[in-house]
Amino acid sequence: MSVSRPAAVIVLAAGEGTRMKSRLPKVLHEICGRSMLGHVLAAAGETDPERTVVVVGHGRDQVVRHLADTAPEVATAVQETQNGTGHAVRMAVEALHAQGVRLSGTVVLAYGDTPLLRGRTLADLVAAHEAAGSAVTVLSARVPDPAGYGRVVRDASGAFTGIVEHADATEEQRAVDEINSGMYAFDGALLADVVTRLSTDNAKGEEYITDAVAILRGDGHRVDAAPAADWVEIQGVNDRVQLAEARRLLNDRLLTELMRSGVTVVDPATTWVDAGVRVGRDAVLEPQTQLRGTTAIGEGARVGPGALLTDTAVGDDAVVRHVVAEGADIGAETTVGPYAYLRPGSVIRPGAKIGTFVEVKNSTVGEGSKVPHLTYVGDADIGVGVNIGASSVFVNYDGVTKNRTTIGDHARTGSDNMFVAPVHVGDGAYTGAGTVVREDVPPGALAVSSGSQRTIEGWVERKRPGTAAAEAAQRAAKGEERRRGE
Ligand code: UD1
Ligand code: CA
Repeated sequence: MSVSRPAAVIVLAAGEGTRMKSRLPKVLHEICGRSMLGHVLAAAGETDPERTVVVVGHGRDQVVRHLADTAPEVATAVQETQNGTGHAVRMAVEALHAQGVRLSGTVVLAYGDTPLLRGRTLADLVAAHEAAGSAVTVLSARVPDPAGYGRVVRDASGAFTGIVEHADATEEQRAVDEINSGMYAFDGALLADVVTRLSTDNAKGEEYITDAVAILRGDGHRVDAAPAADWVEIQGVNDRVQLAEARRLLNDRLLTELMRSGVTVVDPATTWVDAGVRVGRDAVLEPQTQLRGTTAIGEGARVGPGALLTDTAVGDDAVVRHVVAEGADIGAETTVGPYAYLRPGSVIRPGAKIGTFVEVKNSTVGEGSKVPHLTYVGDADIGVGVNIGASSVFVNYDGVTKNRTTIGDHARTGSDNMFVAPVHVGDGAYTGAGTVVREDVPPGALAVSSGSQRTIEGWVERKRPGTAAAEAAQRAAKGEERRRGE
């Protein structure tokens, strides 16, 4: 059986979502790295529709901007006032007509607040719909608590006759636990007609798309309700409690997929991943790890405990512990942390080491090089096999412009150095402890700037008499005399 590309997917996203109590339109709330609307669009995209139309209304400027950024191929239709789901679909159909698009073939309808929806489920719905030749196929679900949902109504023979909204349902109908998920496959031409015939004769005084079922059936068409395999998928999000539940469920789904593909997740309860994250085989995600955006972890890498990585690449067999990284590229077989911060443009080449209390920004650390302790590396290019002494600062900012520092291959810089950019340390050069490197250091040279040490004997006893330091100094002096006397 061949399944056609849907002629269109229509996603409703015009409602306010009052119960979110938010400045942000409900469908823009984020779960696992995407807006709820983004998840629905990703699932819809898997059916490969000819076009996608999102109906916008409440907070429409924000929604339109979000779509322009994240899904520019999607068209929008405006629903000025929220007169119901049927009215919203009518706005989409009218917008398509205005562009000269007459719907025929299959049209998928989904709501923007169901982030757990999978593309596979929509594809199965389309396949079942087309195989049966129905006017409409509703994805239904049996749920533990049907309150609030539209109920699937069947006659004595079990045939699907329509959907009744909770507010309009009789006691008997409310006892039904098969509900309307809000996802449908329609015959496009029949949909375009039926949305012009919806009444507002109901508890909310709105045009319900759910009334289309009974109308189409009355016209003599076949209508079907196909129960979803997993009701979790169709859960809608109406408030922040449900938002947290949906996030937990989606995160669990993503972690399960990773574990099945060969990733060890030590503590799924404290490990959070976004939908766009990839992790290679035999990688280990330790507790308290969050992988966001387009983060990609190589095979055999160990990440965590305590890692927050955003849009960051980690190479094979790297070890990344207690690290915050954004837009960084961490090479294979590196070690990073504990307690390191890698900011955008940090490139840590294979085998390099970034140690404790080290911050790196817009810099390259060459293969096998080490920045082990207490250091800020900003706007620098460090060659291969370099060792940067503890407690150094790449002084990249003169108060007006940012400048770069370059360190040649196999250089050894002393502790507590300041590299005042722009400056260059040549290949194989050394610098002494406490050097303020203001001028270029030629290859193989030693640069020292801290000057010779001045020692003033007896200063503490003269200037700080009676202090613990002075007493300690006296004791040391006596001990020295005694030793000499012996
Ligand atoms: C709807 C269904 C119900 C189903 C449930 C599944 C109708 C009449 N009822 O009820 O049968 O069980 O979803 O979750 O369809 N929207 C608009 N414009 C409007 C009204 C709503 O775009 O004028 C959008 C909302 O943004 C939302 C979606 O449509 O994304 C659903 O609206 P909502 O008010 O949440 O419908 P429910 O009462 O949940
Ligand atoms: Ca809803």
